[in-house]
Amino acid sequence: MTTPLMGTHAVASSAADPAIPKVGPVSAGASYAQVETRRWGQLNAPMTQWQGRRVWLVGASTGIGLACAQALRAAGALVVVSARHPQSVQDWAAQDKGVQWLEMDVSDPLQVQASARALLAQGPLDMVVYAAGYYRAQRATAMNLDEMLQHATVNYQGALQVIHAVLPSMLSRQSGHISVLSSVAGWRGLPNGLAYGPTKAALTHLAETLYIDMQDHGVGVSVVNPGFVATPLTAQNQFTMPALISPEQAAREMLKGWARGEFDIHFPKRFTFWLKLLRLLPYRLYFPLVRKFTGL
Ligand SMILES: NC(=O)c1ccc[n+]([C@@H]2O[C@H](COP(=O)([O-])OP(=O)(O)OC[C@H]3O[C@@H](n4cnc5c(N)ncnc54)[C@H](OP(=O)(O)O)[C@@H]3O)[C@@H](O)[C@H]2O)c1
Repeated sequence: MTTPLMGTHAVASSAADPAIPKVGPVSAGASYAQVETRRWGQLNAPMTQWQGRRVWLVGASTGIGLACAQALRAAGALVVVSARHPQSVQDWAAQDKGVQWLEMDVSDPLQVQASARALLAQGPLDMVVYAAGYYRAQRATAMNLDEMLQHATVNYQGALQVIHAVLPSMLSRQSGHISVLSSVAGWRGLPNGLAYGPTKAALTHLAETLYIDMQDHGVGVSVVNPGFVATPLTAQNQFTMPALISPEQAAREMLKGWARGEFDIHFPKRFTFWLKLLRLLPYRLYFPLVRKFTGL
């Protein structure tokens, strides 16, 4: 099976549209994508050449998203970094023309639409990474509906808004890749995951369905399932996190996964292997095992 993913594309016109907000210095003029093909068994065309590729990372002001933006930039990509708080990115963007900060709150659909329009007016996006995330431990004995809805807004609905805003352009070019940060916490029900887990299960399901629909249209789709990564999101955890890795390690795993053309990019394997096994168990075994391992 040989399917072109990244077609060579012409640089889009950057004619000024007064309705579109001005955004920073990354020029699409340098953006190009080489034709790559996927080999038998590869679910996506491998992405190994990042030079000049234009990647929009949403939710990348800290943690995994930021580390991934840094790793992609180091590999030659032109990165656009979005989130609400610019602190960790502004200086970097000021010093490096290949880095663009575009402030955006994913819970505001109008902001997402305007941002996507502005970026696409500059030129095509080769990849969009959805890394925005929100996590607070919650159990059903102390159910908090506002918190649950906040998880849904950031983790799932924000992804829908972003994908809805960029997919038509990728479809019309038959080129591009969408990667969503999900979590092993979405694989099966877990204690403390009442608000977070279902949003990640939904994201994974969304990615699977997107993949099926996009496979004949030249648009790659991948889902990233990290175990525990030391970021502001997990800093609140009160327990010793097994197989904890750094955001930089997570970013390396993601680039490796994209280079191999994987759909399901999960890591660290010494942790996710066991969770994959747990995923296969019937409920009568799964529930008592989870209680035994977590003590909850
Ligand atoms: N850390 C882990 O162990 C782990 C494990 C599995 C999956 N994940 C997933 O990996 C992704 C990245 O998480 P992380 O661990 O790197 O956490 P993080 O450092 O807290 O990053 C979360 C990012 O989301 C952004 N964000 C939150 N609300 C937003 C909003 N309304 N609009 C725009 N951006 C928003 C944050 O930026 P602002 O606050 O500046 O907006 C930040 O850049 C998340 O989807 C998370 O669920 C993490």
